[in-house]
Amino acid sequence: MKLLVCGGAGFIGSNFARIRARDHGDEVVVLDKLTYAGRQENLADVEHSFLHGAIEDPDAVAGALDGVEAIVNFAAETHVDRSIAEPDAFVRTHALGTHTLLEAARASGVRYVQVSTDEVYGSIDEGTFTEASPLAPSSPYSATKAGADLLVSSYFHTYGMETLIVRGSNNYGPYQYPEKLIPLMVLNALHGDRLPVYGDGQQVRNWIHATDFARAIGQVLEHGMAGEVYNAGGPDECPNLEVVQRIIAATGAGEELIEYVTDRPGHDVRYSLSSAKVRALGWEPQVAFGEGLADTVAWYRDNEAWWAPVRSGDYRAYYERQYGRALS
Ligand code: NAD
Ligand code: TYD
Repeated sequence: MKLLVCGGAGFIGSNFARIRARDHGDEVVVLDKLTYAGRQENLADVEHSFLHGAIEDPDAVAGALDGVEAIVNFAAETHVDRSIAEPDAFVRTHALGTHTLLEAARASGVRYVQVSTDEVYGSIDEGTFTEASPLAPSSPYSATKAGADLLVSSYFHTYGMETLIVRGSNNYGPYQYPEKLIPLMVLNALHGDRLPVYGDGQQVRNWIHATDFARAIGQVLEHGMAGEVYNAGGPDECPNLEVVQRIIAATGAGEELIEYVTDRPGHDVRYSLSSAKVRALGWEPQVAFGEGLADTVAWYRDNEAWWAPVRSGDYRAYYERQYGRALS
């Protein structure tokens, strides 16, 4: 298949592009704006063609569609804390960007897969979310992602377009920008920097390895039914504090690095997804959290050339703004 992978220079998009080009022989075209989170280095070992552009730019999108059979949209602003501080780009990319891609897909009649998140369902104290759960997003990130999902569904209902939505739980693995919990804690632990735990650290996330999520998206792309939503959750749930303690153990850092800091406003307490529907398409997660976390710690330890430019660039200023202290 020839695929247009929007946002393919980011964390999950690059893992997806690698798997599709390497294991499925797909022809991959990446369209990416290269925000702070997008890096062409993430695609260094992936056979692909690259187009630098924004999904909200109709000319850039039209120029990327030649011969394309399906669009898979990863392009997004993805960090909840940044959405609380500066929501504008989230509205632009998720609302206008998704709309622009949908219009282009409608004009050319191609299949369209929207990559979404469990955060659109909000927080759940007990039990798990299914695809029938109501949308109740809490942050500007999840609210704009939910808006994009609704727009995608409307193109199925209104125009009969072949649209699909895949909602993933919290991803981790190689190439994740270190603003997110796991890579932030791994790099801080390796550097002896404080480990900032929000609130009491008892919030629970349902961790999925990015290669497992990428394979779930591929399964939906190939076998999903148009108009449907598919949840893809990881095999394990874990409270944040326990994640941090496991990272401390894996890096050999000390517990005294843990620092309890002011909680995130509107912090969702727990996410949990039922993946029965995507499992019925023949998918199941292959990476248990313990094993995947150990591999991820080893990847960051072994790939200083990947993270050194990030940790010395704009990220330092972001970190100081967000956490009120400088990195070492
Ligand atoms: P990321 O922040 O690592 O990468 C996002 C990519 O999109 C970057 O390459 C960036 O340059 C690009 N981009 C941003 N705005 C763009 C625009 N307007 N036009 C073109 N490109 C643009 O994100 P990620 O963690 O890989 O997430 C990918 C997708 O998966 C997102 O849609 C996100 O909502 C979803 N998701 C993420 C997680 C997670 O835990 N990270 C979980 C579930 C779903
Ligand atoms: P994050 O990786 O930002 O993902 P999301 O908010 O999309 O789930 O955060 C995961 C969890 O870790 C979330 O409960 C917030 C918490 N967290 C911290 O305790 N400290 C941090 O420095 C960060 C970035 C997150």
